[in-house]
Order: sequence, then C-alpha cells, then structure tokens
Amino acid sequence: TTVEFEQPDGSVTTVEAADGESIMRTALSNLVPGIVADCGGELSCATCHVIVSDAWVGIAGPPSGFEDEMLDATSEEREPGSRLSCQVVVSPVLDGVRVRVPASQW
Ligand code: FES
Repeated sequence: TTVEFEQPDGSVTTVEAADGESIMRTALSNLVPGIVADCGGELSCATCHVIVSDAWVGIAGPPSGFEDEMLDATSEEREPGSRLSCQVVVSPVLDGVRVRVPASQW
C-alpha cells in the first residue's frame, strides 16, 4: 500500500506503507518531515496533524469523537480533511492515498 505525503512546498514523497500501521508511524519510519507525533500515538498531542486530500476523505473516514475534539487544538487551522495521522490505519483500500502535511505542528 502506498501513501503520498505532500509537503507545504508542494513536493510529494511516496512511501510504501505496511497495512495495519498508522500513517503517523509510516511517516516516522520513512523519515517524512513535518509529522512530530510527540505523544507517540496516544491521541494526546495533536502534533501528527495531516489533511487528507479531497478525493480520499470519504475513504479514510471521519475522525472519532475524541480525535475530532483534539483537532480543534492543532497548530494549523483544521480543514475538512483534517485527521490525526496516528488514528488513520493503512489498509489496501487506502492504496495511493494522499495526505498534506501542515506547515507547522506546534
Ligand atoms: Fe499524538 Fe497522534 S501522535 S495525537
């Protein structure tokens, strides 16, 4: 399964992701810049913010209730496709998904 990370400058990194792994872990293990993930995936930091591209929002699904609350605390203003990437699990239906990395996480 591949995941595309778009940086604020428009550059795109495509990485091979393991199914069952979060997009946050996928970013860290591939040294994709811009994902801080201070809490290590515990849903308590909101520094793993990504914006799922329009075409993929419906497939990635909505945030859970608590994630939705946490998204109000992101550094960059949340957008309709905003998710906390530690809560998005890679699976074959997401093959080719593109997420945008916000300009800041703090
Ligand atoms: Fe902290 Fe996702 S890594 S909320």
